[in-house]
This record gives sequence, structure tokens and C-alpha cells, in this order.
Amino acid sequence: MKAKKTATEQPLYKNPKAPIEERIKDLISRMTIEEKADQLCQDTIGVDPNPDNYSLDNPYCPTCGSVYQFMGGAKNRNKFQRQAIEETRLGIPLLWAIDVIHGWRTMFPVSLAQAASFNPALTEKSQRIAARECWQDGGIDWCLGPMVEVGHDPRWGRNVEGYGEDPYTASQFAAAAVRGFQKDGRVTACVKHFVGYSACEGGRDYSYTEFSDRALREWYLPPFEAGAKAGAYTMMSSFNEWDGKPIPANRALLTDELRGKMGFSGFVVSDCGALHRMGNMGYTSDPIEQTSEALYAGNEMAMGDGLYRNIPEAVEKGLLSMETVDEAVARVLRVKFKLGCFENPYAPELPREKTCILPDADELSLKFARETMVLLKNNKKLLPLDSKKFRRIAIIGPSANEIHPHLGQWRAAAEATPEYGETLLDAAKKFFPKAEISFARGCAGWDYRTNPGDAAECEKAVAVAKEADIVLLCFGELPWMAGEIKSRRDICLPPGQRELIKALSALNKPIIGLCCSGRALAFQEEAEAMDALLWLWQSGRRAPTAAMEILTGKVNPSGKLPITFPRSVGQIPIYYNCHGKITPEAHDYQDLQDEDGPWFPFGYGLAYSTYKYGKLKIKKTANGLEAHVSVKNTGKYDGKETVIWYLSDIEAKFTQPVRRVIAFEKLSIKAGETKDVCLKIDPKRDLAYSLPNGIKILEPGEFVLSASRQSEASFWFEE
Ligand code: BGC
Repeated sequence: MKAKKTATEQPLYKNPKAPIEERIKDLISRMTIEEKADQLCQDTIGVDPNPDNYSLDNPYCPTCGSVYQFMGGAKNRNKFQRQAIEETRLGIPLLWAIDVIHGWRTMFPVSLAQAASFNPALTEKSQRIAARECWQDGGIDWCLGPMVEVGHDPRWGRNVEGYGEDPYTASQFAAAAVRGFQKDGRVTACVKHFVGYSACEGGRDYSYTEFSDRALREWYLPPFEAGAKAGAYTMMSSFNEWDGKPIPANRALLTDELRGKMGFSGFVVSDCGALHRMGNMGYTSDPIEQTSEALYAGNEMAMGDGLYRNIPEAVEKGLLSMETVDEAVARVLRVKFKLGCFENPYAPELPREKTCILPDADELSLKFARETMVLLKNNKKLLPLDSKKFRRIAIIGPSANEIHPHLGQWRAAAEATPEYGETLLDAAKKFFPKAEISFARGCAGWDYRTNPGDAAECEKAVAVAKEADIVLLCFGELPWMAGEIKSRRDICLPPGQRELIKALSALNKPIIGLCCSGRALAFQEEAEAMDALLWLWQSGRRAPTAAMEILTGKVNPSGKLPITFPRSVGQIPIYYNCHGKITPEAHDYQDLQDEDGPWFPFGYGLAYSTYKYGKLKIKKTANGLEAHVSVKNTGKYDGKETVIWYLSDIEAKFTQPVRRVIAFEKLSIKAGETKDVCLKIDPKRDLAYSLPNGIKILEPGEFVLSASRQSEASFWFEE
């Protein structure tokens, strides 16, 4: 559609002083049905800066509501935007969308690592920076994040994009991310993927999902509700299905739950090509039906398949009402008005060096990485390292001399930035200036399917390690082993790494494992060879410095696991907030008798200090209950301790999880210091649970509260 402007007077919708609702009404009254359909489509245009990609004559002319995945820079983006504003009849600005998950030019820790910090304030700050960078860098005003799905299966590659297995924790981070993205007012977040995509069977990406109404309410919905309450302007519907209906066509979820019960007032965009893919799921492959079903369900914008250009036909056939179309267009326009797109449609065209690494971004990235890393093992208090004792350090492993293992997926903009990361090898050289540092890769490739190891590399590494006092083993996953379409059937280490660890362990040298990973991995046997194990995740551009600060004791580790680590893939799913076992004394598996339970539980994480919890006391107050506990840092190092509050509802009419997190608080506690922590319990919020229809009930009965499972008390609640 290439309709040219005709009107010369200033229409009401262009008057910034008029109330938004009146502007929307006025604009909709001027739109043709084709223009409305265009407004509900999200298209791509060329991602390269070839000028031929940017003319109204090209098939992807900007008469859509939004463009996604455009990385052609602010200048080209503005050129396109100018066409939309100046050369189309109504001059409606486009929204510019791209996946922004854990940073843009500045890479912060991946979301799963962020959750390990139990410090959502850092997420809020980092997403604010990400929003500024992507706006300044290319005029992106729609961040397709945060991804807030609760995941129970580490084989599913996309857990790395989310905030772990706990709905409460994920909710806190979801809200923080939304606040951060939207803080400066010109960029919107997109909370995704609504809902239950993480329930894919066997962790197979894009596969069938089967989950109950209870799972929906107990696990999957809460982070979306938190995102809605934090004011997210947009959400993305997911690919999967629930209760026989693909989510984009699921009115019970998109309209009744999301709008009706959660009060979400923005608009929903489908995931890429999701409407079209409903045919693959055996729902409908008729484009007119796909269009009418999805729009009626409450999916306002179609990403990547242009399907909503069928709206005129769907309306003509009586499958869709104009009210439904207008309501959807109004929701999209409302976001554009709220963001100020009409008044401020163009992005700043800054020289590249001014668009990246805002002065405070680098410092925040380091601060964040210090809090994400989780110390899983520290035999005989090997860490922090006594640099006088270890003068010859061997840095070995495939991630020792690489930047990528620290960055995770969605890092394209960062990679276009000079000095976008560090290596562990370089960081070690800075932190141990007097030590003799040697390096060997130890194995050739990373591919867990095909890499059989490399005997020559392994031998070289053994020779290097022989000459050293200590080995820093840098291993795990590369970023492309976790993420979208990056599910794994097993979560073991690649074969080459297993062989390397075996060979090094025969030397009887102290080994410190530094594991980069975007998921939980299971390598209990190989970990036996390590005296200490620090989980680095993919903690961003400054991860290597943060890791060295922890190794040398400059920083006391404070990360705790936001997911349960299984001992082997056969234990999956395994998560902390499970429901009670029918016969608790029976072993889970006959082939795992001595080791029931996970390798490392949710909330696990060592520090260089020990924290002693006092007696937990609970008292009644006018508004509910109050719990108090003291936490003493009994070690020699100042540190940070997250107090995780778990609640167990001992008996209920609908059985409840054995425990669930209802709050957490991260405290800075100096060596020898004691801090008192207070938890205010609001019974309606904290003790109630959802019935299958979503109605919350509060039953009288016995509850047990625990602070980090170190101190607990039971209480009886009666209204
Ligand atoms: C992913 C979304 C993403 C979209 C656009 C899809 O394949 O599932 O998370 O936002 O692509 O890149």
C-alpha cells in the first residue's frame, strides 16, 4: 500500500496535547481496513545497509506496524522511519524491535546467571543500560525481552534466557527487567513467551507441551503477572499449545487470564511465524482462519508471517468483527503514543563510538558478574588462593583463551563493539603478575556430538600441567550450546573435556574448575577430580575479571543456584518446589540408591564466610505475621548472603508443593557482624494458593517457614 498523504490540516491524532484516547479514536476513524491490517503486522527488512533495501518500492515497504531484527544502524532506520512518517497517508511511526535479553553493546550476565545473584536491582540497572544502548545504537525502541519462563528441564536450551525454576524469583527478575527497559520512557519491554513454552516434552525445543491448569498457575503464569504489574507495554505469545489450542489462538489465556485476571493493558505480538505454524500443530492451516482465530483470541500483532494482511478478507467473510480489529489497532497505537513515537520518531544518529558502553555500563557488568558466580565446591578451603603458595599456574581448557564462552546467545551487537570481552587467560595474567603462567587448550573442538577429543592437545596440556603448582581448568559449554534450538539430549560434558579432566586428575595437582555454561550440567564424576568448582555461567564482558577476583579473595562469592542441578539426565525433571513424595523412605531410583536427590539443590552456593542463622521467631501483627531471624557472618571475609524464605503449607485441600519461595533478601554482612532480617507475611499474598480456576483461597492450618533452610519455625494460621 503506497497511499500518499492528502490532508493538510493538523489532525487531532497529531496533537501531542490531546488526550491519548482521543488521539487513538481519531486516528482509527481515518484508517482504511488495509491500513489497520498493516498496523498489526511486524515485518523484516534487509539487515544489510544496502540502500536498495530501503525504498518504498521494495516489497517490504514500511506500511507495517513494526519492523523487527533490523541492525542497519540509526541512519538507515531513520530513513525508513521518515518514509513511514512522510510518505504514507497517515504517517504512523514504526516500532523497531529486536531481541535484547542480557545487554546490547555491553554484555551483562545471561538471565539465568542474573537470577543466581538474587539481586534484581542489578537486573533493573542493566536493562536500563541495554535499552539506552539499543536506542542510541540503532533506534531500537522495542526490546523483545525479558524471557521469563520458569524451566524444569535443563535440556531445553532456552532456560539460559530465563530466571530459573522458581516462579517467585523469576517474577522478581521479570518485574525488575521491565522496569529497567521502560525506565527512560522511550523503549518498551516485551515479556515473553506467554505461556508454558518451557514445558516442551523432553526439553525438545518447539515441541508439544502438556501442562495442567495447576502447573499453569503454580509455575508458569506468575512471572507474566509480575511483568504485567510492572507495567510492561507488550508481551509475546508463545509457539506452543495449551488445552488443545495453540497459544496465539487461545482466548482463555490471552484474553481471560492475561487481560481479565492479570490486568495487562498493552498488546500481544505472536512469536516469529507462530500463526502460520499453527498448521504444523494440526490446528488450522487456513490463513484466513489463522488470522481471525488469533486476533479474536487477543493476539494483536503477527510477527514475521504477514498473516494479518488477511484481515480485510476475514472481516468480509464475517469471521472477524471490525470492533475486534479496532480494539487491536487501538492497543498497538496506544503503546506508540505512550512511548512518544509520534512526537519523537527518530533515533539519534551518533558516531558508533558514542553508542556503546555507556560510561557506567562496564562497571555494572563487572559488579553483576561478581554476584552471579556460584562456588559449588571448595575442598580444604583451597580458595581463596594463596598466591605465595602457587607460583606456577597452568591455565588449561578450551574456554581459557576465548571471549565467547562468557557472552551467551543474543550477542551480535556486542561483537560489533571493540574490546567487548576478556579471556580468563588475560585476566589471570593481571591478577597473578608474579606467577609463571602457562596455557594449553587441552582439547580441539567443543562439539559435544562429534568431538572425540584430541590426543595431541590433551598430551600437551598434561605436559604443561606437570610443570605447574596448580591447574585452573576452564571448561563447560560454548554460547551456541545453549539458547533457542539449542536443546541437548544429555547435559554431560563434551567427550574431549571428559578425557582431558581424566588425564589431568592423574597428575594429583590441585585443580580448580571454572565452568562456563548456560544451563545446569551433570558431571559429578569428573567434578571429583576438582578441588574447587566455581560456576561462571556466561557472565558477560567482565566475567573473567570477576572470576579472578573471587579466586584471589578480593570478592567473596555470593551467587546461589536458581535451578536444581541433577546428578544425571535421568533425574530430570528435578526441582525444589515439587509435590510431596508418596513414600518418602523409598529410593527414587534403584540405580541411584546412595544418592537420592540432586547433585546441587536450588539455593546452593558456598562462600568464604559461613553464615550462622539464629532462631526464627514469628509473631502476629495487625496486618498479618512477621518473621525475624538473625544472620551472623562468622567468617573472616566481608560478604553477601541471600536469605531465601521458604514456606511449606503442611496440609491443604489441594496439595501444595513441599516448599516454595515467598521472599528473598540479599544482605551485605561484614566479617563478625550480625544482621537482623524481618519478613512481613501478608497472608493473602503469601499463604493463599490458586484453585484450578484461578481463584485464590486462604485456608487455616499449619505452615512451616524457613530462612534459607537453616532456621525454621512452624505456625498455625487462622483468619
Ligand atoms: C524466538 C523469540 C524471538 C523471535 C524474534 C523467535 O524464534 O522464539 O524469542 O523474539 O524469534 O527474534
